Amino acid sequence: MTQNQGQISVTAPSNIAFVKYWGKTGRQYPMNPSISMTLKNCITTCHVTYETGQSEFAFTDYQFEGAQNAAFQSRIDKYLRGIFDICPWLKETCLSIATNNSFPHSAGIASSASAFGALGYALAHIEKNLGVLEGDLNTRASFLARLGSGSAARSIDGPFTLWGNYTPENGQNDFAIPLLNIHDNFDDINDTILILDAGEKKISSSIGHSLMDNHPYRTARIEQANHNTHNILSAMRAGDWDAFGSILEQEALSLHAMMMTSNPSYILLSPQSIAAIHAIQNFRAETKLPVYFTIDAGPNIHVIYPKSYSEKIKPFIESDLKSLCKDEQMIWDENGRGAHVL
Ligand code: PMV
Repeated sequence: MTQNQGQISVTAPSNIAFVKYWGKTGRQYPMNPSISMTLKNCITTCHVTYETGQSEFAFTDYQFEGAQNAAFQSRIDKYLRGIFDICPWLKETCLSIATNNSFPHSAGIASSASAFGALGYALAHIEKNLGVLEGDLNTRASFLARLGSGSAARSIDGPFTLWGNYTPENGQNDFAIPLLNIHDNFDDINDTILILDAGEKKISSSIGHSLMDNHPYRTARIEQANHNTHNILSAMRAGDWDAFGSILEQEALSLHAMMMTSNPSYILLSPQSIAAIHAIQNFRAETKLPVYFTIDAGPNIHVIYPKSYSEKIKPFIESDLKSLCKDEQMIWDENGRGAHVL
């Protein structure tokens, strides 16, 4: 039975890319394939109340963590109006939305992936309730999430997803797909996020993506990302943490190298980021333990290691990395299973 009005509450996690999406074309199509891990604890919950059959679209109320937020409301309003051609039912729907993040808004953690992941997932559920959903719900949710923020496409399924044209796995530019047949050695992965600087990004990701359009290393970066997608997948299927970790770190540094060599060039890493990278690499060289880093578009460092080694690696994080963090802030996260209905 279809429902013309109702309420849907969902949650979607953030994700951390192993192979980075950097550069886009057209309507949020990625320049290269990317692979990511869906997180468990960094999540957005989203409650949407809707009623269709109205004379026009109305986005009546938006609450972020219990308070009105004009900047977020205007971004979501623009997004919803921008997908009228894809979701024509929106044109005659009245909506109100409330969202909450599990992680501190000021922690410098990208929240657009979980925010648009949750919104896309909620919209796909509304389509199901209205009887207009065609095809698979998660595919539609990932497609809708992508239009809000590219990396949000990878926040619907878990624990690992691939987004972007990549023929050997049937990867698509329109939406992300779950990655299957990953070795048991990658069943439980910890991601300890070192909050080194919680400030606003100096250069937004949208500007960063656009600087790839005429980047001198554009072609080489596309080749590298395709090559790394192939090799990291082989490593994850073979259960090879050494090979996985070396690609992981190369991808993180390559993302930042693209920023440092664009025109204009810029640096998002801080002295603490570099100190953390050296500490992780030195600790690994000394102990031979499988602990690696990756970095998003900011100074914070994600420490990635198998959960089975936590007892040996956590003391190192506490003693050598915590003091580098702003107010000793860290987020202890791990791989999760993706979006779900509350
Ligand atoms: O989703 P956007 O447009 O904010 O792009 C973010 C891209 C990176 O986070 C830097 C890398 C990635 O693949 O997630």
